[in-house]
Amino acid sequence: MQDILDELELRRDGAKMGGGQKRIDAQHKKGKLTARERLEILLDEDSFEEYDLYKAHRCTDFGMAENQIPGDGVVTGWGTIHGRPVYVYAQDFTVFGGSLSETHAEKICKIMDLATQNGVPVIGLNDSGGARIQEGVASLGGYAEVFWRNTRASGVVPQISMIMGPCAGGAVYSPAITDFIFMVKDTSYMFVTGPDVVKTVTNEIVTSEELGGASTHTKKSSVADAAFENDVDALLQMREFYDYLPLSNREAAPNLPTSDPITREETSLDTIIPANPNQPYDMREVIEKVADEQQFYEIQKDHAGNILIGFIRMNGDTIGVIANQPMVLAGCLDIDASKKAARFIRFCNAFNIPLLTFVDVPGFLPGTAQEYGGIIKHGAKLLFAYAEADVPMITVITRKAYGGAYDVMASKHIRSDINYAWPTAEIAVMGAKGATEILYRSELDDPEKIAERTKQYEDRFANPFIAAQRGFVDEVIMPHSTRRRVARAFEMLKTKQVDQPARKHSNIPL
Ligand code: HXC
Repeated sequence: MQDILDELELRRDGAKMGGGQKRIDAQHKKGKLTARERLEILLDEDSFEEYDLYKAHRCTDFGMAENQIPGDGVVTGWGTIHGRPVYVYAQDFTVFGGSLSETHAEKICKIMDLATQNGVPVIGLNDSGGARIQEGVASLGGYAEVFWRNTRASGVVPQISMIMGPCAGGAVYSPAITDFIFMVKDTSYMFVTGPDVVKTVTNEIVTSEELGGASTHTKKSSVADAAFENDVDALLQMREFYDYLPLSNREAAPNLPTSDPITREETSLDTIIPANPNQPYDMREVIEKVADEQQFYEIQKDHAGNILIGFIRMNGDTIGVIANQPMVLAGCLDIDASKKAARFIRFCNAFNIPLLTFVDVPGFLPGTAQEYGGIIKHGAKLLFAYAEADVPMITVITRKAYGGAYDVMASKHIRSDINYAWPTAEIAVMGAKGATEILYRSELDDPEKIAERTKQYEDRFANPFIAAQRGFVDEVIMPHSTRRRVARAFEMLKTKQVDQPARKHSNIPL
């Protein structure tokens, strides 16, 4: 019997070496950890349960029959993060460059099926040369099986992709369907076609980093939600991020008890709005001062800075925050900001995460670039996402809420539950100067008269009380009491229930 047990240990140890020491050393030399080392950091100690350790490919072409490595380039199973379960797969670059064969795909599909059935999220650690070239269409089929499952699981369990090496060709479409993509700086890249093909087809000369590195995808394309310094940093951050998420659409996000009382008053908020309405202030400060422990886990920090999105906790519960940022483009809504916020709102709504919106928006960004780029359609995404959301929603208007952007930013009319305004709020069709210049065009050559008209308009409309008279604002609150008011309102909304009309699915303007 003992020799059988020893044999098992031997097999296990052999399989765990992946592509062998030489390739493990090469992986380390690139500043990357191996698949198993990554899982050790991501998961709680001794929590990993591995499946299919011995699974091998079935390919016989190109001498592959003699080239069998147990596990076939991907480590799969489940473990826990801070005690909560998670299914994981980690591609092993030391085995055939982490390339995806039919059997490699089967391993990923197995855990995705279990995850969807059991209502547990999936985290994929991607580090792969793409489709296993020796397998041809069998590997393409494997990818498609993964894509299909990604789509089936969307809105059922959170799916997170970490890009920790190459991710090229059609392989990018699995992460693209998942809810969040995180990258590692300098060692990861994603593109549909690599630099060589780009050069052949378009004559552009570009490096892998420029084409699809972390900086490109967090700043320009917005494909990635954040980038981290190295593997260890990325995996530790993932553990923190995971705590904000529910296990599935059947559950609420976990409550993390806090010693930060909801009654905490922030008197500095009473003076944060500058006297000059054209002067910016940092909305991030408002969010932090309202949040438990002043913690704001921001997402897509480097893209569309005119809107902020991310998670906070209030009284221990996860809350999704959307906020105009007056420091960038005066907080105007544009194409990028609309898409960024809309997708986040839809994630939160799908997974029962309440929404808190801070509004300081002078309107949609004007110009041909925006119109030609389709701001009508993209702005509508944001409007649609808010309007279809049925999680508890609270809105705080801190300053400007002008025009269509007032409607879009979680106004009462599109079914936000509780709408507060600070006394500094200005809710109107447009700013006083613009309004006066339209209404009193014939007086434009008389600056004194125009100044008087502008003042009259400001006195009449640049405040929250007209909206409050109509019930579009539930209460004008003291800025210092925002945390208490919002936290208490969320407590009251915990039992919210909304009936949706029967339909197959909605048709968001894509
Ligand atoms: C089989 C692969 C492989 C692949 C790498 N390897 N990619 N084996 N299929 N797709 C093997 C290499 O032969 C090598 O084996 C080992 O992995 C390490 O690769 P290196 O090239 O030595 O590593 P590095 O220099 O770091 O370069 C990594 C790389 C490069 C940039 C990823 O390997 C590469 O360009 N690979 C091909 C990428 C590609 O074109 N894939 C197809 C994309 S299209 P040995 O034994 O020598 O160590 C695609 C379609 C998906 O994926 C469609 C879905 C719908």
